[in-house]
Amino acid sequence: MEDRPGPAGHYFDRVPAVASRRRTVTLTLPDLTMELQADRGVFAADGIDPGTKLLLLDGSRPSHHARTLLDLGCGYGAIALALATRAPEATVWAVDVNERALGLCAENAASHGFDGRVRIAAPDDVPPDVTFDGIWSNPPIRIGKPALHALLTGWLDRLVPGGHAELVVHKHLGADSLARWLDAAGWSVERTGSRMGYRILQVTGR
Ligand SMILES: C[S@@+](CC[C@H](N)C(=O)[O-])C[C@H]1O[C@@H](n2cnc3c(N)ncnc32)[C@H](O)[C@@H]1O
Repeated sequence: MEDRPGPAGHYFDRVPAVASRRRTVTLTLPDLTMELQADRGVFAADGIDPGTKLLLLDGSRPSHHARTLLDLGCGYGAIALALATRAPEATVWAVDVNERALGLCAENAASHGFDGRVRIAAPDDVPPDVTFDGIWSNPPIRIGKPALHALLTGWLDRLVPGGHAELVVHKHLGADSLARWLDAAGWSVERTGSRMGYRILQVTGR
């Protein structure tokens, strides 16, 4: 669970304060292995986050017919690129506020041949009429509850009818209270996985 603010800022700062120090990390799943560029000032700079890996291992996979998917808070793109691999027809939006993360995600998408199909964007740059068959996210819990709730409300309401979101959250970071809040706000929430302290929450549209 690497979700803590460092002394030199947060992983969700628009422009990270810490100097760049690139490294290559490897995403290894049963169906794919990818080397990805990571960097300081970006979430999981030292290696794929265990929650992210669990989401990709234990969470549901996108439908083969999915057309438009979202990795909300993409970081350097581990989830977005796994989705693009698993849903070969889909356009995958990879959205983040951290400009260094967006740059890395663009580079990683290009080096794996996904430029064009993985659309890297700051939140306000996603056209308002784009809706999603599915949303996958290791969400930015550290931004605080009011901001997180506003973030999730805005994006979950862009699920198509019948679409669903898959969220991974550590129980010590409030997974169960987040599930209760989602439920109270009118979404259907199912805990489809629980391992190593992480919950996988499957959320369907309201
Ligand atoms: C827990 S990290 C997950 C990163 C990446 N998906 C991964 O699994 O390694 C959450 C990400 O959400 C981003 N984020 C924070 N606030 C955001 C916002 N308002 N809109 C989109 N992304 C945001 C952060 O910059 C961070 O990269």
